[in-house]
Amino acid sequence: MRVGFLQFNPQLFHEKQNLNKISKMLQNCNTDLVVLPELCTSGYLFKSNIEMESLSSTADGRIPGFFKNISERENTAIVAGFLEKDEELFFNSQIFVAPSGNQVIYRKTHLFFNEKDLFSPGNSGFKIAHYNDAILGFMVCFDWIFPESARTLSLRGAEILCHSANLVLPFCQKAMITRSIENHVFTITSNRVGTETNGTQELTFTGMSQITDPSGNILVRADKTEEVLLVVDIDPEVARNKMITEKNHLFEDRRKEFYE
Ligand code: ACM
Repeated sequence: MRVGFLQFNPQLFHEKQNLNKISKMLQNCNTDLVVLPELCTSGYLFKSNIEMESLSSTADGRIPGFFKNISERENTAIVAGFLEKDEELFFNSQIFVAPSGNQVIYRKTHLFFNEKDLFSPGNSGFKIAHYNDAILGFMVCFDWIFPESARTLSLRGAEILCHSANLVLPFCQKAMITRSIENHVFTITSNRVGTETNGTQELTFTGMSQITDPSGNILVRADKTEEVLLVVDIDPEVARNKMITEKNHLFEDRRKEFYE
C-alpha cells in the first residue's frame, strides 16, 4: 500500500488559495492513501466564531465535496482536517474519503488551548474505516498526548493511524514513535509548516511530518519548513501481529483490573 502525507503551509482565511495548492500538490500523486494536516483548508489561528463562519462547511458541504473530487481524480483515499459546522456548533473535524465514495467524519476529541473557546469538543467518538485490505484509524493533533486515543483505535483494529496535525509543541513526533510501538501499528502524522499571525497572536508550526512503522522506525520524515508530499510503500498486514514475544500479546496481556 502506497501511503503518504502532504506537508504544507495553509494560509489563514484564504480557502481558495489553500484548495488550489492542495489540488496542485496532489496532482499525479500516485498514492493509495494521503493524509493532510488539521484545518488545512481554513488555517488555524482564529480569534472568534465570526471569523470561522464563512470558512466552515457541513459534513456534506463544499469542503468534503472538494476532497471527494480529488479522491476520484487521483484514485486515492484522502484524510484531511477541516472546519466543520453542524447546526450552530463548530467542530475541528477530519474527513476520510475513498474513491468508492465511502466517507467518514471524525470530530477532534481533545481540544488544545484556545480551541476550547472556539470549538465544541468532538462528539463522534473514535472512528475507523476499512479501506482496501487495511483498517485505518483517525485522530487529530492533540489527541496524540492521550495514549487512550491511539489505543482505542488500535483495539478496534486500526492498523494505520491517520493523524492530521497543526503542532506547536516539540514532543509529538517522538511520542508517535511510542504510539507505534505500544500498539504495533503504522502512524502517519501530517503536520503543517509556517507561521500564522492574527492580531497580537502568533503561532509557528513544527513540520517534521512522518510515517512510522509498528517497530517504531521512522520510514520517512519531512523537515521543519518544507512543503512536500512524501510517500512510502507499507504492508499493513505487519500491524496485525500483536505478539511481542512468543508469550506476550500486546492486547491480551493487559491487566485491566489494575488500571484506572
Ligand atoms: C493542536 O492540537 N493543534 C496542537
